[in-house]
Amino acid sequence: MNESKNSANAMWGGRFASGPDEIMSRINASIDFDQRLYAQDIAGSVAHCQMLIRQGIVSQSDGDAILSGLDTVLQEIESGRFEFKTALEDIHMNVESRLRELIGDAAGRLHTARSRNDQVATDLRLWVRDTIDTIDEQLKGLQQTLIELAESHADAAMPGFTHLQPAQPVTFGHHMLAYVEMYGRDRGRFADCRKRMNESPLGAAALAGTSFPIDRGATASALGFDRPMANSLDAVSARDFALEFLGAASICATHLSRQAEELVLWCAPQFDFVRLSDAYSTGSSIMPQKRNPDAAELARAKAGRIFGALQGLMVVMKGLPLAYGKDMQEDKEPVFDAADSLSLTIAAMNGMIGDLTVVPEALLQALDQGFPTATDLADWLVRVLDMPFRDAHHATGAIVGLAEDKGCALADLPLTDMQAIAPGITEDIYSVLSVPASIDSRTSEGGTAVANVRAAAAAARERFL
Ligand code: ARG
Repeated sequence: MNESKNSANAMWGGRFASGPDEIMSRINASIDFDQRLYAQDIAGSVAHCQMLIRQGIVSQSDGDAILSGLDTVLQEIESGRFEFKTALEDIHMNVESRLRELIGDAAGRLHTARSRNDQVATDLRLWVRDTIDTIDEQLKGLQQTLIELAESHADAAMPGFTHLQPAQPVTFGHHMLAYVEMYGRDRGRFADCRKRMNESPLGAAALAGTSFPIDRGATASALGFDRPMANSLDAVSARDFALEFLGAASICATHLSRQAEELVLWCAPQFDFVRLSDAYSTGSSIMPQKRNPDAAELARAKAGRIFGALQGLMVVMKGLPLAYGKDMQEDKEPVFDAADSLSLTIAAMNGMIGDLTVVPEALLQALDQGFPTATDLADWLVRVLDMPFRDAHHATGAIVGLAEDKGCALADLPLTDMQAIAPGITEDIYSVLSVPASIDSRTSEGGTAVANVRAAAAAARERFL
């Protein structure tokens, strides 16, 4: 046990004879990480102070001193001259304590009709809101890169896969546009989250509201919130906005990791569908021939970290009684870490994809394997010979077996061989067995025909950029 006679905390130690044990200080302090909230914290204090002046709760002269002092604190932090102190626990008390050093006793009036409980809830909402705006811009940038790639490779044929087995021909552009849709929905999820979270907790005070004649609507609108939160207990207890942000981040991370996994596969020599630039490849310290897709692998892995942040905060929040509990201080690190991880992952994916080279010959060559136009053959039997699809499927299976035995593609199988299985087949069958014919027949809405892909890319520009 630490017997040191630390002095009581200057901010709340009125009834304390001595200060906290060193271990108590360490577990209690959040300043190492919540200093990231300094800009939001000061913006919240400015809005609160201006409102206190307007409502006649704080005098104009004290208010002016507070406002100019806050501006000085902001400059000190931004220029790296501010000394953050663990003894002052968190960003709120570090700012207020410095304000007192700068302007004297008037600083003590800033905390009228406010608590750190509504203050921290406000700060984190503002931070998550700013972060959502940044991530939205980044996702839009990634969509733009993908749309451009889709336009330049709208007609590059490649195998589409199911079960990672060659299934049917698609175009490279079509494949890129699939991700444009996913990232578009991710942006929608972040936008929904932003809309729901954009209410102000400020003025809920510790938990019950305040007896001072504050104007919560004024502070809400000064901070860009749509309205004050309706219930003071909820205002200081709610962290579902952070969970929702982490949920949207987690889903977005699944999309990024799926695309990252495809890049890992596609740049392997066995595929060689794409080549990563030098700027986005790494070498091996022992195998001189290697070009490793480390950024793609890390983008694949960051998902684990982001899911961990969501899971961690879910567990912190479950079962917490209303209103504020110090447990909730554990909300910040997962939110910051997930946001940083997501932002870096999007940047890396955008950089890698913007810089890669597509290898159309390799895409085409991959179509030689796996009989990707077999469905076209079955569809022809249905359309021209009026076979029930199940029978056509069966006959096509037998024809594929023949081609496999002969080691040739469907388009190279002699007509007589096919007629031995389905006698009605005519020379016309070859018109559907080629890859370009297969692709161009997929004209249904959302399908992979080249004209569709070009139109879809143009539409995506309109919808997303
Ligand atoms: N550092 C605290 C947090 O992050 C601020 C709120 C503290 N409130 C309190 N009553 N101890 O949650």
